[in-house]
Amino acid sequence: MNDLIKKLVEAYGPSGFEDQMRELIRPEVEPYVDEVRVDALGNLIALKRGDGQGLKVMIAAHMDEIGLMVTHVTKEGFLRFTNIGGVRPHGLWGSRVQFANGAIGVIGSDRLDDRHKIHPLNKHYIDVGATSPDDCPVGVGDAAGFMQPFIANGSLLTSKTMDDRIGCVVAIETLKRLQNIPHDVYFVFSVQEEVGTRGAQAAANGLDPDVGIALDVTITGDVPECAPMSVSLGKGAAIKVKDSGMIAHAGLVRLMRQRAEAANIPFQMEVLDGGSTDARSIQIANGGAAAGCISIPCRYVHSQSETVHAGDVQACIDLLVEILANPIAL
Ligand code: CO
Ligand code: ZN
Repeated sequence: MNDLIKKLVEAYGPSGFEDQMRELIRPEVEPYVDEVRVDALGNLIALKRGDGQGLKVMIAAHMDEIGLMVTHVTKEGFLRFTNIGGVRPHGLWGSRVQFANGAIGVIGSDRLDDRHKIHPLNKHYIDVGATSPDDCPVGVGDAAGFMQPFIANGSLLTSKTMDDRIGCVVAIETLKRLQNIPHDVYFVFSVQEEVGTRGAQAAANGLDPDVGIALDVTITGDVPECAPMSVSLGKGAAIKVKDSGMIAHAGLVRLMRQRAEAANIPFQMEVLDGGSTDARSIQIANGGAAAGCISIPCRYVHSQSETVHAGDVQACIDLLVEILANPIAL
């Protein structure tokens, strides 16, 4: 599975620029589904048909990553930029970024008189080696993603985009294990989650599912002096009960818990004090859907070294298989 993880987490795909991701994922799912299509917003939607006895289920994992967008090229050829999604200024200095056309840059920042302070985003710039706007390989409106190799450090897996390429991996690996299932399951590899769960919203409005489950990362409470949170790396799939954008469907939460217990899959209950996922958009699309989220515990979310545990990833796959392979009564 690490080969698939490496392939997806090192790829380029800031929100709104997911084309390369879509082309990577499509051949991974095509052999296992009945239909694959791309909607007008860019969501990749793969349908695995059921036997007609079950529900219409939407699974959502987002392809996009946080990133940067060029706002201005200085006359010396340096690029000023704005954020795409939740990029924080600390950690930017010295970072490497890549653009859709392959151009690579290094982030610098204006002089700081007080080294205890951090410059805001707009006092940073990208150096792509240009000397003027004329020889600059990218321009205003071009988007950059961060550049970091995937590392597997024992069971700990680290990359720039575990959020949410690891959710995409959970979806793909689950799909490979599903055979005669009762439900029509739409696996949506969604766009633009990091700027407000927009892709999933459009997809859910179009599909009108009975049940929706997002696959996404959640933060943990197991590192020094962090905010209290009852989710730890290595303790299993996190079953979301609430985050700042939604309260998961109580019946669906109960079902997830029962399936995990019955199949001896390690799990933990998640209440996230901030943030949300595609499940929020699915829940309130059209006339509403029973929505929930299986979260992959992750340290350092929205840094360039997002870290998950291989055992938790496996637990999330096992749990999703248990849910989709059996009847769902809520
Ligand atoms: Co995110
Ligand atoms: Zn995410």
